[in-house]
Amino acid sequence: MNVMNVDYDGLIPNNVGLNQDMRVKKALEKWHPGYINWWHDMGPEGFQQSLVYLRTAVSVDPKGWAKFDYVRMPEYKWGILLAPQVEDRRVPFGAHRGEKAWQEVPGEYRAMLRRLVVIQGDTEPASVEQQRHLGKTAPSLYDMRNLFQVNVEEGRHLWAMVYLLQKYFGADGREEAEALLQRRSGDPDTPRMLGAFNEKTPDWLSFFMFTFFTDRDGKMQLEALAQSGFDPLSRTCRFMLTEEAHHMFVGETGVGRVIERTCAAMKENGIEDPCDIDAIRKLGVIDLPTVQKKLNIHFSLTLDLFGNEISTNAANAFHAGLKGRFREDKLEDDHQLESSTYPVLRLVDGKIVRDETAALSALNMRLRDDYVTDCAAGVSRWNKIIEKYGVPFQLKLPHVAFHRHIGEFSKIKIDTEGNVLSDAEWEKRKDDFLPSSRDRDFIENLMQPEFAPGKFASWIAPPRVGIDNKPGDFEYVKIAE
Ligand SMILES: [Fe+2]
Ligand SMILES: [Fe+2]
Repeated sequence: MNVMNVDYDGLIPNNVGLNQDMRVKKALEKWHPGYINWWHDMGPEGFQQSLVYLRTAVSVDPKGWAKFDYVRMPEYKWGILLAPQVEDRRVPFGAHRGEKAWQEVPGEYRAMLRRLVVIQGDTEPASVEQQRHLGKTAPSLYDMRNLFQVNVEEGRHLWAMVYLLQKYFGADGREEAEALLQRRSGDPDTPRMLGAFNEKTPDWLSFFMFTFFTDRDGKMQLEALAQSGFDPLSRTCRFMLTEEAHHMFVGETGVGRVIERTCAAMKENGIEDPCDIDAIRKLGVIDLPTVQKKLNIHFSLTLDLFGNEISTNAANAFHAGLKGRFREDKLEDDHQLESSTYPVLRLVDGKIVRDETAALSALNMRLRDDYVTDCAAGVSRWNKIIEKYGVPFQLKLPHVAFHRHIGEFSKIKIDTEGNVLSDAEWEKRKDDFLPSSRDRDFIENLMQPEFAPGKFASWIAPPRVGIDNKPGDFEYVKIAE
């Protein structure tokens, strides 16, 4: 079988020759009903019978892997898709650099590898759970379709990780695959594993910020795992990255369209001061200072996902050849880092200082730095939109120490510029940095659904082009009563 093409004959579409692998095929078929139950319970609420214009992967060829058609979400073809094997691939970094890439799990690294797969796997269904209520307040059918596309693909990413667990980790892999269906985002007893994936996604601006910031963390993690010396993990992550690009597109253009609509409404109504919040809100659009606060909260929560700045786990995973750096294969150094250093921001005597640290223990920090650079590029594209309208306002990433719950800065209070605050000052000023209850109420009230084809809610501009080049009034979701 050509691995570029996907076998759609069985219950589980795949390009991994599942028909020749009865043990794994059976294990996955046994897991399947639990997954479908989970999707019904925790997937998009109220739209399970609606016909959604979705893309489905029919190949892993980067040119033209997707086909578009109307699908009921529970019938989506969730499959197992690996990027083609690279001939004679070698472990690209760490102590085993240059050895043949592993096609089976190296025994000594089994536990570490399983944990990496489980942590990645846990984030995928979590975001579906966080977003399950949003369909009801979609600002257009176009946006609703994009939400559901992201949701089904996160479901597929769960399949991707579960395949690795079932194929390579025996009985404990099966147990972990079960547990991935048991945990629930935000559940006090059985929460998801990482903090940001237990937060609420209460409104559509949050959804766009989440797909911009938190899915971008996903991209960074997948990039690091795509470098793995464990070849099946690398191949899985490489294909996931092609899907992930759309999630970040949804986030970046979503926030961009919010900004566009706000600036246009200000201009139409002769409002020049971007901080004249009451006047701007009366127009049914979201003022830019509130967009900034939403940015602040999502950026800071996402930074926590990178873990502690100094981490022996990260060092071990790199040393073992399991998790590399962002674009490891493009970097020019010894790829072992045993004697190099990396600058890390640390808290010393209540002050933020830059400290040269052993590069191996600073890998979380390094990935986070690459992430921040990636985010900043997106933010400057948003600012171009504001500039175009001549509105005197700039969005900014807050300081990396702001509003942190994990790592060096979790013990202190810092403003968005990086100044240390007393607890009392923080209490007094936190509503300047993060959405206040008044901001949240305003946004919640604004979230009125707009389900007429081609129509958009007051607070968001239409997209420049349709999905799959469809015309503006295309019915992306045929809502079933
Ligand atoms: Fe994902
Ligand atoms: Fe994603």
